[in-house]
Amino acid sequence: MAKMTINDVEMSGKTVLMRVDFNVPIAEDGTVADDMRIQAALPTIRKVIDSGAKAVLMSHLGRPKDEPDPALSLKPAADRLAELLGKPVRHLPDCIGPEVKQAVAEMVPGDVVLLENLRFHPEEKANDPDFARQLAELADLYVNDAFGTAHRAHASTHGVTQFIQPAVAGLLLEKEIDYFTKILEQPEHPFIAVMGGAKVSDKIGVIENLLDKVDAVLIGGGMTYTFLKAKGLGIGNSICEDDKLDVAKNVMAKAEEKGVELVLPPDHLAATSREADAETQIVDDEIPDGWLGVDIGPKSIELFADKLRPASMIVWNGPMGIFETEPFAKGTIAVAEALAESEATTIIGGGDSVSAVRMAGVADRISHISTGGGASLEFLEGKTLPGIAALTDRA
Ligand code: 3PG
Repeated sequence: MAKMTINDVEMSGKTVLMRVDFNVPIAEDGTVADDMRIQAALPTIRKVIDSGAKAVLMSHLGRPKDEPDPALSLKPAADRLAELLGKPVRHLPDCIGPEVKQAVAEMVPGDVVLLENLRFHPEEKANDPDFARQLAELADLYVNDAFGTAHRAHASTHGVTQFIQPAVAGLLLEKEIDYFTKILEQPEHPFIAVMGGAKVSDKIGVIENLLDKVDAVLIGGGMTYTFLKAKGLGIGNSICEDDKLDVAKNVMAKAEEKGVELVLPPDHLAATSREADAETQIVDDEIPDGWLGVDIGPKSIELFADKLRPASMIVWNGPMGIFETEPFAKGTIAVAEALAESEATTIIGGGDSVSAVRMAGVADRISHISTGGGASLEFLEGKTLPGIAALTDRA
């Protein structure tokens, strides 16, 4: 790690301002529907309080319209964190202001508070220096453990580091950086990327950057059909980005030039609609008129598993089909299982692929499941993440 981490600083007696990513789904009953991101921050939170420091946690939740929105309060996250920690977590009604200052001043070592949603103030996303300074004034030390938000240059991830030093990485952020840096800088070969999801445009930056590192890219999901059309094959009514046909052609040409195998599914599950009760058939190569591709087919499942078997490193991002609909989930589940069975170092970018490994019941057999969606994609694209760049360099 080029950046300082929580292991490099003395925390005893300090007030630690810690950016976490508690941007978690909230269920209709007002509780946290998926606590993966809260669980992932526990080691750092525990280390802070076990060191005799006070933990002032801050996060965003959702995308409020620059003003308080009770539906996007972090109260449910505070309640869930308290359950997981087995101790009270005080949820404050705001993230700056006299009441917050007072509450932080009253904390004793080992206490944990969670500030209210940072995005209730438009200054957060604007990276406003005065707002960042007010956050910084709450504490003596800044820790960023919010990998999921590291691609945002906001006041709590970026601006705040101008006013509080050192600014160090938490254990989760460090782990995420280590895995993604390994992918980009020291991949183990054979290294295979499995890319899925609806759009070529979402993944093109990642595929292009990985072409210099991988031995093969397996393509699945909705973006398959843009590739098929670019090759002149019929895709029926399948989803397609017609303005990205040249991009797809270009990637295929580049892969060939670099000696990277770009594998498209040789067969497909085609359906008459996206509905679960649609009529379906398995088709080779092309999708007939009046049908749309909804998953990879059985030959593709076998081919992908064969390709993945000898891999030493696998990175996966994006489902192979409309996996939220049970009859169209086989390809995605099969890829999740292939990763679980593999001896390789397996890394999953956030979002849908995470839901898929959970759905397949194999999450505990994956080397690293990232807590970042957009952040993991930007990292794999080779971009600098502002939340990481802003942290204090190791001497
Ligand atoms: C995420 O869920 O990807 C992060 O929490 C960032 O959220 P945002 O896309 O609203 O900035």
